[in-house]
Amino acid sequence: MEGDVGTGSGEPLILSDELLINRGRGRLCYRHPVDRSLVIKVPAGPGSAAQAANRKEWRGYRDLIRRHGRLPCVSHCHGFAATDRGIGLICDCIRDADGAIARSIYDIIVYDDACDIERILAVADSFGRFLLEHDIRLFDLNPKNIALVQEQDGGYRAVALDLKGRFDNNEFVPLSSYIGFFARRKMRRRTRQLLERIRFFHANRDRYRARQQYRRRSDL
Ligand SMILES: Nc1ncnc2c1ncn2[C@@H]1O[C@H](COP(=O)(O)OP(=O)(O)O)[C@@H](O)[C@H]1O
Ligand SMILES: [Mg+2]
Repeated sequence: MEGDVGTGSGEPLILSDELLINRGRGRLCYRHPVDRSLVIKVPAGPGSAAQAANRKEWRGYRDLIRRHGRLPCVSHCHGFAATDRGIGLICDCIRDADGAIARSIYDIIVYDDACDIERILAVADSFGRFLLEHDIRLFDLNPKNIALVQEQDGGYRAVALDLKGRFDNNEFVPLSSYIGFFARRKMRRRTRQLLERIRFFHANRDRYRARQQYRRRSDL
């Protein structure tokens, strides 16, 4: 398969439960069992969207890199490898300066009562501006798809974790894929929505926390 990076030994990688970092809409994200600089994303279920997500992200990633070179604000993808949970997409593991796995904006604003919401909004806003300035089209800007890397000096740096949305075009005629004016307008709207969602999730964090606990209990 194109982009196959294999596993070295030819055996599938074993993704045990304790390697699980998080689950997204359609995928589970695990730490790589032997390389701490990498993660592996696998489909969370048999549904076609979950199965297609890795292929979409790989395609989105390669298109992005072809246009913009090696951007520092995205999690880089390396290709596919077999795992005991299906074909996985290997990507850089985004970590804080102290080595901890960086949290998504969502995890910070919902679970960390001490977070500085104004600072997070400012970082998200300047991330959106940066993307706009450089015409980097990432349309799936939601708080679960962006990590905030905690830097040595205490500052935050935003990194896009989920690049599959570039080819998730719901428009009847996908103008924003190829016409700059429409793409910029869409990026401005997406940045505005990102800031609104951050405010909303933070204001309603008790509700979102309760939901997560319920899910965890029902997972048992
Ligand atoms: N490269 C990465 N480094 C660290 N954590 C990640 C990385 N990619 C994803 N994650 C974690 O896994 C979650 C789900 O990943 P995502 O790519 O958004 O999957 P989905 O396609 O299901 O939305 C993210 O919200 C984040 O917490
Ligand atoms: Mg996602």
